[in-house]
Amino acid sequence: MWERDNEVCMDNITIQGKSGISRIMVGESLPALSRHIPATGVFIITDKNVAAHYHSEFPDFPVYVAEPGEESKDFAVMTKIWHWLLDQGADRSSFIVGIGGGVVCDLAGFVASTFMRGIPFGFVATSLLAQVDASVGGKNGVNLGGYKNIIGTFTQPEFVICDTSMLKTLPDGEFRNGMAEVIKHALIRDADKFDFLKNHRNEILNREREAINHIVNRSVNIKAGIVQADELERGERRLLNFGHTWGHAVEKENKIPHGQAVSIGMAFAASLSVHLGNLKETELNDIHLLLQEYKLPLNMELDKNRVFDTLLRDKKKEKDKMNFVLLKTIGKAFVKEMDTDVIKEFALTF
Ligand SMILES: NC(=O)c1ccc[n+]([C@@H]2O[C@H](COP(=O)([O-])OP(=O)(O)OC[C@H]3O[C@@H](n4cnc5c(N)ncnc54)[C@H](O)[C@@H]3O)[C@@H](O)[C@H]2O)c1
Ligand SMILES: [Zn+2]
Repeated sequence: MWERDNEVCMDNITIQGKSGISRIMVGESLPALSRHIPATGVFIITDKNVAAHYHSEFPDFPVYVAEPGEESKDFAVMTKIWHWLLDQGADRSSFIVGIGGGVVCDLAGFVASTFMRGIPFGFVATSLLAQVDASVGGKNGVNLGGYKNIIGTFTQPEFVICDTSMLKTLPDGEFRNGMAEVIKHALIRDADKFDFLKNHRNEILNREREAINHIVNRSVNIKAGIVQADELERGERRLLNFGHTWGHAVEKENKIPHGQAVSIGMAFAASLSVHLGNLKETELNDIHLLLQEYKLPLNMELDKNRVFDTLLRDKKKEKDKMNFVLLKTIGKAFVKEMDTDVIKEFALTF
């Protein structure tokens, strides 16, 4: 693993969203945050784990430290933060920075885009999942009771800093969660990235800076490109759901981490693609191998009928048809409207 230093190795990627331009800086560092925020009126939101490692590197502004974990994406927590902002004298000219993983980004993005009808905000994304996924795209979702991300806004952060050197303190399981999304990006859009992941496994697993910067950069480019083409998720953005249809149902049913569920979901969607005559069997084997090399599961003990029922429950409209993201080949995904019966029949054999 690398030491943090002042060397700048930065790639800028921009998204022109409806709510403004978002600049994603891969390789920019937390200590450089001050260059990107106003000189006054800044409020920082983070969580306890991130604060424990990095508080001393935060610029000198008021900090709200939330409990780590999904439970913080809750209205009770947001209400506390809205009150805290008012108590601290925040107003329409204030600026919010979320420094943390996907939970903090969602929380800070939602709080900022609703406080006084919306004030500007930026992120320092500190987990791999936040850097390649949650911080990019302008979706800010929070939970309501048992419903995940059911309340939210589409508002772009002004900037996202992906300081990849912060990943050195990320727990292994969280790193693997992020890798599932990285592999997803390669599978849906980028065969070269798939080869890179295959050929540089050790450097990536050791979190070597150059290799990590490369994969984060490629992922951000893919996600940003798709979001730019379809900010409000009406078409192409659906490709990002690859592995997430079956994956979400497995996650709900078996309470496993998101990345593991997505890995199982991707193995499922890839097998279904072979079954339907799209993907080659040899490519499926390559996908299986890559997932295993990154210590991600291909399957687990499942009650397939229950998982399938959960999957159907998530579908709001037509029960007998659903859109499913499949692979034509490694690096090329497409959306196919399928009969749910066909998926069920396949699921029972998976
Ligand atoms: N808005 C979107 O488009 C979008 C997309 C994908 C996911 N999400 C959301 O993202 C959330 C998941 O994000 P996540 O996986 O980053 O979870 P998380 O924010 O809970 O972070 C995972 C854990 O790692 C810790 N952590 C983060 N950075 C660290 C660092 N550098 N060093 C040490 N510990 C660190 C956190 O404190 C937490 O315990 C979910 O709520 C999900 O719904 C949102
Ligand atoms: Zn995901």
